[in-house]
Amino acid sequence: MTSSAKQYAPATQRNREAILEVLLQVLPPSGTILEVASGTGEHAVFVAPRLPKHKWLPSDPNPIARASIAAWSNEVESNNLYEPLDIDASSPTWSVETYIANFSPITTIVNINMIHISPWAACLGLMAGAGRILPPGGILYMYGPYKQNGKHTAPSNEAFDESLKMQNPEWGVRDLEEVITAATAQNLSFLKTFQMPANNLSVIFQHL
Ligand SMILES: C[S@@+](CC[C@H](N)C(=O)[O-])C[C@H]1O[C@@H](n2cnc3c(N)ncnc32)[C@H](O)[C@@H]1O
Repeated sequence: MTSSAKQYAPATQRNREAILEVLLQVLPPSGTILEVASGTGEHAVFVAPRLPKHKWLPSDPNPIARASIAAWSNEVESNNLYEPLDIDASSPTWSVETYIANFSPITTIVNINMIHISPWAACLGLMAGAGRILPPGGILYMYGPYKQNGKHTAPSNEAFDESLKMQNPEWGVRDLEEVITAATAQNLSFLKTFQMPANNLSVIFQHL
């Protein structure tokens, strides 16, 4: 029996359909979708085959995650899924920018469940990267829990926030308004939110 590098994040099974449904409403008609912080790769292998007019480019700075993404990708029949890249959102430039012609046009950046499980610099870096890479009209799709008007939207999010901060004081559920301010500074215009499973939000930005 061969061991597999596949990792499992059970939440992906619960949110992937809802995420796909929103993506279908907000995606530009074609182009490459760069996923920052792909984690296990389970979103990539679920969504990519269902978006045949797009290409999906997964990434993660963690080599264990990249091995998992590659292992999951090997199991799906899909001709629109690239191999995972090593991208740290907080880096001043991203590896993909060196080979951007290979993937162009990148019309969308997807980021699921990262900004609360990383220092605030990762969110700022995500916005800066989206500002550098996306063309006018390009979409930044974000998913996760958010505070709104400085308050948690559910007791479960508050408890989650506390547990995140105990793991790392630089982590924590972010304020939607602060995320919008960071995006606006990079010419990313806030379009709308969608209510998602388990008190999460999809947050949509468009590059001006
Ligand atoms: C909770 S997991 C979410 C993974 C996946 N998107 C999902 O929803 O299952 C958080 C991911 O963020 C990645 N991550 C943390 N800091 C990052 C950074 N600065 N840039 C890019 N990815 C980062 C981690 O390696 C991890 O894979």
